[in-house]
Amino acid sequence: MGVCVRIPATTANLGPGFDTLGMALSLYNTLEAAWSSGSLEFEVTGDGAELVPRDATNVVYQAMHSVFEKVGQASLLEERGVRIHIHNNVPVTRGLGSSATAIVGGLWAANVLLGQPLSEDELVHMAVEIEGHPDNVTPAIFGGIVVSGMVNGKVYSKRFSPPPEMSCVVAIPDFQLATKTSRKALPPAVSHADAVHNVSRSSLMVAALVEGNFDMLCNLMDDRLHEPYRMPLVPGMKDAIARAKEAGALAAVLSGSGPTLIAFCKERADRIGTALQEGFQAEGIGSEIMILSPA
Ligand code: HSE
Repeated sequence: MGVCVRIPATTANLGPGFDTLGMALSLYNTLEAAWSSGSLEFEVTGDGAELVPRDATNVVYQAMHSVFEKVGQASLLEERGVRIHIHNNVPVTRGLGSSATAIVGGLWAANVLLGQPLSEDELVHMAVEIEGHPDNVTPAIFGGIVVSGMVNGKVYSKRFSPPPEMSCVVAIPDFQLATKTSRKALPPAVSHADAVHNVSRSSLMVAALVEGNFDMLCNLMDDRLHEPYRMPLVPGMKDAIARAKEAGALAAVLSGSGPTLIAFCKERADRIGTALQEGFQAEGIGSEIMILSPA
């Protein structure tokens, strides 16, 4: 018996909601897993397949292993063996939640293979623990827009539906930026004024997204906690964002820890995509444009 899991790409932060807000996008990785006859068999296809390890260091395998371990069956995975096929459409290490797809896919597949011994809450908790922040894994699990945070060691999350008229344009530059590197660029402390700036915007933004109030939304997505520090790591970011807004985007921000940029819009998605691409081009950087929906 086997299992097939489909996991969406995600965009984290949504500007000012650092480590708190995230949204699922209409671009999916799939993971198929089945018992094999005592060996670990890997097939990886799709985007960046050559970059993905095909052994026990693979993130999908490690996530699966942690489920087996948690239910006291750590040796079963090695003994029975498993066949894993990963098909990636989400670009690797570009700020669209590729590692969250691997973690969530691995946890869910392992739980199904074992007859679902763990609850959804337990799996959510494990996913956040493995990833280290909740804002990619929770929308990858629940879909839609998710507000989430760790409170006294417990994951709290609330899902809501994105405004139906909103679409998203992503510009994926042709270089990678590891989340670890991008997090290292952040300062250990921020000013009280910058904290208030972000708290007010991210709180109001949730209300604007719930109400579909685009007039309000377009004034709220500027950030002071991570984007200014990450900008030097993403050449062309400032210019591309300015061009996207001129072309009619409601807002444009860094997707997760970058280097992908994401613009939110009601119309003119093609024009906005070209504007983002031109911003990268001005720095000699090529980029792929995708028009996606919230998922
Ligand atoms: N909130 C995380 C960060 C998302 O910005 O580092 C990483 O995808």
